[in-house]
Amino acid sequence: MNSANTAAAERAEADTVSYSLIDRIAWVKFNRPEKRNCMSPKLNRQMSRVLDELEHSPDVGVLVLTGEGTAWSAGMDLKEYFREVEQQGLGAIRAAQRESYGWWRRLRWYQKPTIAMVNGWCFGGGYGPLFACDLAFAAHEAQFGLSEINWGILPGGGATKVARELLSFRRAMYHSLMGENIDGRTAAEWGLVNEALPLEKLKDRVEEVARTLLKKNPVALKATKDAIRRVGEMTYDNAEDFLVRAQEAANFYDNEGRKQGIKQFIDDKAYKPGLAAYDKSAHGRKDE
Ligand code: ACO
Repeated sequence: MNSANTAAAERAEADTVSYSLIDRIAWVKFNRPEKRNCMSPKLNRQMSRVLDELEHSPDVGVLVLTGEGTAWSAGMDLKEYFREVEQQGLGAIRAAQRESYGWWRRLRWYQKPTIAMVNGWCFGGGYGPLFACDLAFAAHEAQFGLSEINWGILPGGGATKVARELLSFRRAMYHSLMGENIDGRTAAEWGLVNEALPLEKLKDRVEEVARTLLKKNPVALKATKDAIRRVGEMTYDNAEDFLVRAQEAANFYDNEGRKQGIKQFIDDKAYKPGLAAYDKSAHGRKDE
């Protein structure tokens, strides 16, 4: 093993995820580029810590999840997550599953809006955090694959569910059975991501979207993102009832925002809700 490989093998747990905070946008990175950012138990634990740290910070309005190097994430770590954990028995397997599924679930219901910025490879287990992010933007150059079939398992850890949630039946079936990759453009056409752009334009576009989200009422953002996920499994009548109650619950945290929103349009004629967001600083609301 050369020295670079030794350093890679010894990457400290705390170093498997990195982040920077710029103007209330948290840029969180899978940080194992030498292993194509595949998810090891260490990375999963560190990601949980980072998500904990950022979730309720007033310094964070939007979280972007991206990858260092050429990968977004090459899925689960076949050596450290599968082979080495399996050698320790069922208890260890379940613990490792709790750690990975745990942070994806956490991200699905995160307090702040989240954006997946898919800069490169995205495989298998990577579909968990991909779906967990509210929005997703990919480089044209990115490659998406349910490669499980290529090494002899089914797409577990939620990946099959993600395929059925985001793709048509035929596409989900083809994608899972064939083990062929699709690029960013096709991922956008199929609905795995919102948009695909050339890699050099990806960050600017994601930042533009994040800045737009930062202008919206954060209580309304959280209520809306949760509602979009929840109503998918409800009948129409249940959804109608849930949404009435969800808005009333949101009013508990912020009863002034929507009144300001109406006032600034109807009385002040300061903005048009059909074209932009109201000025939330007028009721002292800048963060969550
Ligand atoms: N698990 C463990 N190690 C991995 C993984 C992974 N998922 N992906 C990459 N690596 C390691 C490689 O073993 C290699 O390690 P080494 O330097 O110690 O030899 C290093 O990362 C770099 O990988 P390369 O294969 O050399 O990188 P390359 O850029 O040529 O290829 C690619 C990238 C296509 C992503 C390739 O690494 C690959 O096929 N990875 C596996 C993708 C996959 O099928 N993931 C599992 C999905 S299924 C699931 O998540 C349940």
